[in-house]
Amino acid sequence: VVVDKGQYRHFMAKEIAEQPEVVGHTLTRFVDMTSGRISLPAGADFDFSRLDRLAISACGTAYYAGLVARYWFEKFARLPVDIDIASEFRYREPPLTPGGLALMISQSGETADTLATLRHCRAQGMKIGAVVNVPTSTIAREADVVFPTTAGVEVGVASTKAFTCQLAVLAALAIKAGRDRKVLSEADEARLVASLIEVPRLMAETLHLEPEIEKLASAFAKAQDVLYLGRGTSYPIALEGALKLKEISYIHAEGYAAGELKHGPIALVDENVPVVVLAPFDVLFEKTASNMQEVAARGGKIVLITDAEGAAHAGETFATLVVPKAYAFVSPLIYAVPIQLLAYHTAVFMGTDVDQPRNLAKSVTVE
Ligand code: G6P
Repeated sequence: VVVDKGQYRHFMAKEIAEQPEVVGHTLTRFVDMTSGRISLPAGADFDFSRLDRLAISACGTAYYAGLVARYWFEKFARLPVDIDIASEFRYREPPLTPGGLALMISQSGETADTLATLRHCRAQGMKIGAVVNVPTSTIAREADVVFPTTAGVEVGVASTKAFTCQLAVLAALAIKAGRDRKVLSEADEARLVASLIEVPRLMAETLHLEPEIEKLASAFAKAQDVLYLGRGTSYPIALEGALKLKEISYIHAEGYAAGELKHGPIALVDENVPVVVLAPFDVLFEKTASNMQEVAARGGKIVLITDAEGAAHAGETFATLVVPKAYAFVSPLIYAVPIQLLAYHTAVFMGTDVDQPRNLAKSVTVE
């Protein structure tokens, strides 16, 4: 397949912009639009009712998709999730149940550590599921059941559209698991699916923040360290925001659970440290807002990403990016967009090689 940048300056910009379309496409494979229920693709049917645990493993950005999914599987399906980065999974020697499901998440389907974990889990008698973007890849071939993301070819080394498509698939699987395990009623499922199919439209709206984010990038380019904070499913998105920024702008960044701020990272905060706070106006907002005040009191530059209600309830910030209101469940897919754009425009401002950042590879085939 030949892909080009089209009107875009970088593949990464194009891939960020494509998200409403490719996430929408991925969802059509997992949602029956007529009944409004989850319907897994042909050949990818899986019954979650008999599982007592789910093991998830992946690397990099795909691992963060797995971290979000843990919240979903545990909440909607009451299914305990055991998750670790693929390069560590085996060394923990986690007790695995033969016949249980191990879910690998990988854009390329070739990452050596993820593949090694897959083979380890298979040797322990587990069934292997794979959320993969490249259907001909080794991980796809070695898995028992493939849950495809249809993000299309991703060229930018820093993953963007593959990540949100992974989230879309994992969200659908968590709802399916909730139905199989009789945790979700038909009405619950319908409500969750309805919020999921709104995502492409909300992502498209979120992309309109780009000019505002571009302006912020010049302030970020001056920073030496940036902190990203989030609570609940916004926590893995904070981790992903920090990873995106370091990968392509080479600015040191750390993602933290908002509540953990006071246990260390707050020592770093002064007027030179931008602190990106991801806080949709949900049941966790108030707690995150109080962490934000701790940052403000120390002169930290807060960049708040929230919805209109959150913006109305927040105190003073350095900048506030207002994303459309979404159901709490799908907010990780929406909040992924501004953190990608922020990393992208900061890197462009600094003049780094956005699509081919130094020292990194698109697919890492050594352990
Ligand atoms: C590399 C890429 C990352 C990616 C990770 C896992 O480090 O630079 O963007 O998240 O590998 O890759 P995978 O293909 O397994 O998702």
